[in-house]
Amino acid sequence: MTRALPELRRGGTLALVPTMGALHAGHLALVDEGKRRADRLAATIFVNPTQFAASEDFSRYPRQEESDARLLTEHGCDLLWTPAVADIYPDGFSTTVRVSGVSERWEGEHRPGHFDGVATIVAKLLLSVRPDVVLFGEKDFQQLVVIRRMVRDLAIRVEIVAMPTVREPDGLALSSRNAYLSADERARAVALPNALRDAGEAIVGGVAVADALAQGKRSLDQAGFSRIDYFALVDAATLEPLDEPAGEMRLIAAAVIGTTRLIDNLAV
Ligand code: PAJ
Repeated sequence: MTRALPELRRGGTLALVPTMGALHAGHLALVDEGKRRADRLAATIFVNPTQFAASEDFSRYPRQEESDARLLTEHGCDLLWTPAVADIYPDGFSTTVRVSGVSERWEGEHRPGHFDGVATIVAKLLLSVRPDVVLFGEKDFQQLVVIRRMVRDLAIRVEIVAMPTVREPDGLALSSRNAYLSADERARAVALPNALRDAGEAIVGGVAVADALAQGKRSLDQAGFSRIDYFALVDAATLEPLDEPAGEMRLIAAAVIGTTRLIDNLAV
């Protein structure tokens, strides 16, 4: 990356798409938009160990760099950087970027330390590549809010572009983790986007927020989700929970089916 950057920058503006690989149409939508927004595009694949807790799926996270690289080439990616863990975290690495407030609830509560890992790696990638534009998906809505906060707080000079969630025809959000689902779990997982859609429609239709959320959780239960970490209506900017509709809102959810933890969200 260090060697390639000067040449890439001579080509004009530069977009960056950071990923953990196992690329799907959601990632590629970021690449396609990045190509529209900048003259050159770089992507990174790095399964970042510091954003996984010891009990999580770091070791089994899907790794398929060769087919990922082919897809990126087909979509016009100019440079792929796949650093080793020791490139990113050499001996003596001691710095953590922690974003308080927006990182504390929801994913932050259920995955302690996760957003410290995300904020630190994204800061390092942005400062290493110094793109003009960086693209993230709304699929990871809280991640997007945390990164926006960090970029503002640290005055990192980059434009953040957020892209809508790309879904399967039945509504399930594309995710590298969908590969963990059995056929039966895959069929039942559609209850998650359905529950969000139904709750959103109920809230817009005047149903009390608490009732709409309770109904959403019941439908996940019935579909066979074994654990619901949260199913909540939040303020889209602060991520604070809302008891009543107000301003720009987002429904956010995380739940476990089989051994797979899925997250999804929807604008209301
Ligand atoms: P990863 O899960 O690989 O996602 C990379 C980017 O693709 C993120 O911005 C994510 O929001 C986006 N994305 C994933 N699924 C999507 C979908 N169905 N539709 C639209 N966009 C989608 O998120 C990470 O990696 C990491 O936390 C990372 C930011 C790379 C830091 O390690």
